[in-house]
Amino acid sequence: MSTQQLLPDHYVIDPAILYFGTPVALLSTIDSAGEPNLAPMSSVFWFGKTAVLGMGGGSQTSANLLATGECVINLPSEEMVDAVDRLALTTGRRVVSDRKRQAGYRYLQDKWGWAGLTAVAGETVNAPRVAECAVQLEGKVHALSTMAKDDPAERPTYLFQVRIDRVHVAPQIRSRSGVNRIDADRWRPLIMSFQQFYGLGRRLHPSRLATIDEEWYR
Ligand SMILES: Cc1cc2nc3c(=O)[nH]c(=O)nc-3n(C[C@H](O)[C@H](O)[C@H](O)COP(=O)(O)O)c2cc1C
Repeated sequence: MSTQQLLPDHYVIDPAILYFGTPVALLSTIDSAGEPNLAPMSSVFWFGKTAVLGMGGGSQTSANLLATGECVINLPSEEMVDAVDRLALTTGRRVVSDRKRQAGYRYLQDKWGWAGLTAVAGETVNAPRVAECAVQLEGKVHALSTMAKDDPAERPTYLFQVRIDRVHVAPQIRSRSGVNRIDADRWRPLIMSFQQFYGLGRRLHPSRLATIDEEWYR
């Protein structure tokens, strides 16, 4: 492998965040008294049937996940961008930290009403689902790790591993070629990249990986 001469110039930079683009999720949780909360987040990825969620330790969502260990990961599609944006800069935590208040956050009790979203009962968890989301993943926390901050006064960030026990999908995105499949051409996830909202472009290229039958991963 030859290096050096052919490489284009790159800048060395020190970005404050590395949010290169991930799907947005609306995390629905409940506290130990059964009070529901809903929060937008996007530090999420899936491996097999486990979702890994990165949540700030000061959020009500983290407190709820620590208390009850269950959630619904609702995935909004592109057309829900307005509702998702209304939830930005809100927290279900009554006492808003100075840091968050300075950034523009405020306490909001009825996030569902504020965003115009409808809560429907979960089937395997007590946290409600967001009816408007085309994908609703019910799951329970089965492992947890913490990422300590340099500043000892700050709460750690949590990495929650959530085992997905039930998957609900809207008819529009269910594949016609298999009952247990999503039609990737019709699923239009909302993406966040460096704090801005995007959609997915069109399918770009035939996929060699897609020659593997999805059932192989089960
Ligand atoms: C599109 C979007 C993505 C976000 N992604 C995350 C995230 O991945 N992790 C996180 O801790 N906060 C994220 N936030 C900020 C949380 O929504 C914020 O901390 C909120 O106050 C959490 O609500 P809660 O305190 O009621 O749980 C995101 C916000 C928006 C609007």
